Amino acid sequence: MATTMLRLSLLLILLSSVVSDKCNPQDKKALLQIKKDLNNPYLLASWDQNTDCCDWYTVKCDHETHRIISLAIIDSGPSNFSAQIPPSVGELPYLETLEFHKLPKLTGPLQPAIAKLTNLKYLRISNTNLSGSVPSFLAQLTNLTNLDLSFNNLTGSIPDSLSQLSNLGSLRLDHNNLTGSIPSSFGSFKSNLDIILSHNNLTGTIPPSIGNLNFTHIDLSRNKLEGDASSIFGPNKMVQIVDLSRNNLTFNLSNVEFPTSLTSLVINHNKVYGNLPQGLTKLKFQFLNVSYNRLCGQIPVGGTLQSFDIYEYFHNKCLCGSPLPKCTSN
Ligand SMILES: *[C@@H]1O[C@H](CO)[C@@H](O)[C@H](O)[C@H]1NC(C)=O
Ligand SMILES: *[C@@H]1O[C@H](CO)[C@@H](O)[C@H](O)[C@H]1NC(C)=O
Ligand SMILES: *[C@@H]1O[C@H](CO)[C@@H](O)[C@H](O)[C@H]1NC(C)=O
Ligand SMILES: *[C@@H]1O[C@H](CO)[C@@H](O)[C@H](O)[C@H]1NC(C)=O
Ligand SMILES: *[C@@H]1O[C@H](CO)[C@@H](O)[C@H](O)[C@H]1NC(C)=O
Ligand SMILES: *[C@@H]1O[C@H](CO)[C@@H](O)[C@H](O)[C@H]1NC(C)=O
Ligand SMILES: *[C@@H]1O[C@H](CO)[C@@H](O)[C@H](O)[C@H]1NC(C)=O
Ligand SMILES: *[C@@H]1O[C@H](CO)[C@@H](O)[C@H](O)[C@H]1NC(C)=O
Ligand SMILES: *[C@@H]1O[C@H](CO)[C@@H](O)[C@H](O)[C@H]1NC(C)=O
Ligand SMILES: *[C@@H]1O[C@H](CO)[C@@H](O)[C@H](O)[C@H]1NC(C)=O
Repeated sequence: MATTMLRLSLLLILLSSVVSDKCNPQDKKALLQIKKDLNNPYLLASWDQNTDCCDWYTVKCDHETHRIISLAIIDSGPSNFSAQIPPSVGELPYLETLEFHKLPKLTGPLQPAIAKLTNLKYLRISNTNLSGSVPSFLAQLTNLTNLDLSFNNLTGSIPDSLSQLSNLGSLRLDHNNLTGSIPSSFGSFKSNLDIILSHNNLTGTIPPSIGNLNFTHIDLSRNKLEGDASSIFGPNKMVQIVDLSRNNLTFNLSNVEFPTSLTSLVINHNKVYGNLPQGLTKLKFQFLNVSYNRLCGQIPVGGTLQSFDIYEYFHNKCLCGSPLPKCTSN
């Protein structure tokens, strides 16, 4: 009797473990291949083929379809994880989130198989040693709302076709080794995306078409951009944070109209000339830095302008007045 009971309960346990395995077998197969391709890292020790893959570390299944919708491989410990992006990520067709972050020994190009993941909304591959170019196949991932390839070792120019990503809300390509210019097609983005392209080697001018966009945050600092940047501003914009510092920009600031939304204006180390417009006194700045330019004339009095240090104004052509020394009439 006891043995029958034991057998029965064993059978029940077995059955229930089979029944409760919600994981799609194809997804499980793809994940196990990914684990193998990543050289069985300790981080993925819970990826055991005898358990339900919906319970595995760092993945998420959809509540209804039980298909894998999220894979985020982030190594927060002292990483010794040496591999390339596995082609088998392309075999998880329901993925909406794909993340490889803080993996300094992840090398090689952005895996072309990622082009198959047309349901992706969030793609982040950052703080790795990924090399090669920003591939134009990314333009096929039209559901993307966030694209973050920052802090890698990417080279080459930014593909024009990225502007086809009409749902994009945030584009980060900062801290790479990108060259060439900012594509003028960027003005035809359908969404109002935040654009972070700082710490690269981008050259040429900021395309005036950027003025068609209505973003809240733009950071083009530490590149080699030249010419005019005034199209970023304008009275009807909603931009809050602008960092254009350490480029080679040359434009007259006198007639630029700043939107009242602006809280951070960082343009130090350029060749910006003209005066600081009176309108700046209407804004509530948290950060302001116009140092190391070619500005002239009196710093307008009022608003938050006198709450900053001389270091935010110094090294200009003939800027004067509080907090800098008084203007002299000659
Ligand atoms: C990598 O890290 C794991 C876990 O910390 C450790 O067991 C393993 O020995 C390390 N491998 C190398 C090659 O350092
Ligand atoms: C984008 O997502 C929607 C649902 O949010 C889906 O119906 C559509 O097929 C996706 N687009 C592509 C290109 O897969
Ligand atoms: C980027 O790649 C170059 C050339 O392969 C290499 O010398 C450099 O160490 C890499 N940089 C980083 C941050 O990994
Ligand atoms: C990055 O990868 C390159 C080869 O592509 C290698 O030369 C370099 O040492 C790597 N950098 C780091 C920090 O591992
Ligand atoms: C960029 O490329 C140059 C030349 O190949 C190299 O010296 C430099 O380390 C690279 N910078 C980064 C951040 O990878
Ligand atoms: C830009 O290019 C110069 C040489 O052309 C290189 O020394 C520098 O590391 C590059 N900067 C970045 C951020 O890649
Ligand atoms: C930018 O967006 C704000 C807030 O949605 C809106 O009021 C403004 O008219 C827009 N400006 C332009 C130039 O599209
Ligand atoms: C800045 O632009 C000028 C031309 O306007 C050029 O001669 C100079 O080399 C550029 N400087 C840098 C650091 O790119
Ligand atoms: C900048 O523009 C103002 C207003 O149009 C003009 O008066 C001034 O001469 C210009 N400054 C320079 C250096 O061209
Ligand atoms: C503004 O820029 C100058 C020049 O790079 C720097 O010395 C100063 O500390 C900056 N101010 C702030 C608040 O970052």
